[in-house]
Amino acid sequence: MGTEEMEAVILVDVLRRAGADVLMASVETDLVVEASSGTKLVADVGIDACADEVFDLVALPGGMPGSVRLRDCEVLRKITIKQAEEKRLYGAICAAPAVTLMPWGLHKRKQITCHPAFMDKLPTFRAVKSNIQVSGELTTSRGPGTTFEFALSFVEQLFGGDVAEDIGRKLLVPAHGCCQRKEEHNKVEWFFDQTPDVLVPIANGSEEMEVVMLVDILRRAKVNVVVASIEKTKQIIASQKTKIIADTSIMDASKSTYDLIILPGGTAGVERLQKSRILKKLLREQMEAGRGYGGICSSPTILHKHGLLKVIFFGLENMFSKF
Ligand SMILES: *[C@@H]1O[C@H](CO)[C@@H](O)[C@H](O)[C@H]1NC(C)=O
Repeated sequence: MGTEEMEAVILVDVLRRAGADVLMASVETDLVVEASSGTKLVADVGIDACADEVFDLVALPGGMPGSVRLRDCEVLRKITIKQAEEKRLYGAICAAPAVTLMPWGLHKRKQITCHPAFMDKLPTFRAVKSNIQVSGELTTSRGPGTTFEFALSFVEQLFGGDVAEDIGRKLLVPAHGCCQRKEEHNKVEWFFDQTPDVLVPIANGSEEMEVVMLVDILRRAKVNVVVASIEKTKQIIASQKTKIIADTSIMDASKSTYDLIILPGGTAGVERLQKSRILKKLLREQMEAGRGYGGICSSPTILHKHGLLKVIFFGLENMFSKF
């Protein structure tokens, strides 16, 4: 509970894209975990199931109170200490280096970085103000926006630089420097004088990082975000197998109106979103009322298919700059 969803989901997604066998483990009694900005994720296993396993990497996402929940989990503490003692890779990001690793004594003789809000908790002679710090088996990083670097660093350490390079390029990761586009085609004036309501429809096969990043960043900006499943179940299974529980069904969501509807990408997800009649109707009404809608990655093809393509184009590389 209270884990930073972008950090958890980006880590899992990027590592799975590299071919790693990743288990997302819950330290709670339930597999369903409500993350720090309200996204509901379903873990693959409970932490107890991991107690006797040997991992090549144990990576701890941050977020509050998530980092405290991790710290207080005895099974996880033992797993991570064993990992460090046996000189296998481990890492922590955001609040976790200070809040989780330090009380376990796993920062010793290591240089570490963490979120600026927790830097003063680190011993000054060990603290490094960098986005990413690899110190022997321990890798640390600073926050949601540096999670791609954090995840790609593990890909590099586990699979080599070429694989990391390749995945970074395909994901259009901002730090990668290849695809920085800020120019707007078809400029539109838009503003809100009350808290905007935003709908994010999701389906099996939607890209989990796009869903989670959009929702997390918008909610941090105090936007009302409704995540709606177009599947029969509220729980969807995303493109890299992360399980996400939507707030509601598209049927119930369609009873309200939204200032903005944003479609996530992911090839299979886009195909499923495209088949939803309710979503199609919602998007058409959205256009006719002159309200905003948009898509990221491959989802603008849905708008194109429905004859609605004239407004905003986002790319993954723009997500940090737009919101
Ligand atoms: C979508 O995923 C859920 C699991 O989250 C599954 O129960 C359901 O059958 C899937 N739907 C389709 C149409 O594949």
